[in-house]
Amino acid sequence: MIEIKNLHHHYPDGTHALKGINLTIQKGEFILICGPNGSGKTTLIRLISGLLKPSSGSICVNGFNTVNESKQVRGVMGMVFQDPDSQIVGETVKEDVAFGPENIGLSQKEIDERVDWALQVMGVKDLSEKPCYLLSGGEKRRLAIAGVLAMRPRVILFDEPFSFLDYPGIQEVLKHMVQLHREGHTLVVTTHDIEKVIAHVNRIAIIHDGELKMAGPPEELVMKLSQFGIRPPCYALLGREKVSWLE
Ligand SMILES: Nc1ncnc2c1ncn2[C@@H]1O[C@H](COP(=O)(O)OP(=O)(O)OP(=O)(O)O)[C@@H](O)[C@H]1O
Ligand SMILES: [Mg+2]
Repeated sequence: MIEIKNLHHHYPDGTHALKGINLTIQKGEFILICGPNGSGKTTLIRLISGLLKPSSGSICVNGFNTVNESKQVRGVMGMVFQDPDSQIVGETVKEDVAFGPENIGLSQKEIDERVDWALQVMGVKDLSEKPCYLLSGGEKRRLAIAGVLAMRPRVILFDEPFSFLDYPGIQEVLKHMVQLHREGHTLVVTTHDIEKVIAHVNRIAIIHDGELKMAGPPEELVMKLSQFGIRPPCYALLGREKVSWLE
């Protein structure tokens, strides 16, 4: 589904943010990309989404190259940004969620149905008419996810989705991720705080200083995380079985 080959990224100021990443993400997989601050998580996710062009190497999504077949790639992929403010485009909550579906030329009926459904799913329906700039951090995050869901993408990239959220907000977003995964979506989540999501992912990829250090099932990697500046989840530190944040 997502094939990343020998990917390098240099920013214009010379920062070598990604150094030869090779990673294949299967269709329907729920993968966690973790690493400390500045390790390259956001850069990687922006490259996968096609927002950034790699300096060298390639990324294919469903066989389409993110650079020269970006239109096809955008059709299957949605992205929830690390900073929700950078994603909000509408005046009001409802207009914001409608923006994507309007842009792909759906009928008004289909747009209304999708907007209604996405607002409901993310628990922001009561805020439909509210101006976006008045929302709290957590409400903005929910809105951003609603906007992505309304596009019905097969692959969803989440960059630090739990920041700004309180405990019920985290559970809500996590519940939807688990549901989307069950429905067959491919989910890629980045975070340096793996506690909240680790119990639900199929695989963890550890990046450190722009390099992919390890990738494998959580059970195998959980105690190796601290060597790379990532705190293992409490259950692992206590020698217990894995615990979900949904329980
Ligand atoms: N636009 C840019 N120009 C120059 N350097 C950048 C730019 N964006 C990011 N970087 C650098 O690239 C490296 C990787 O940054 P990135 O944002 O991908 O890290 P991250 O793993 O997402 O970190 P965080 O956990 O803080 O979100 C860092 O050294 C950062 O300073
Ligand atoms: Mg980041």
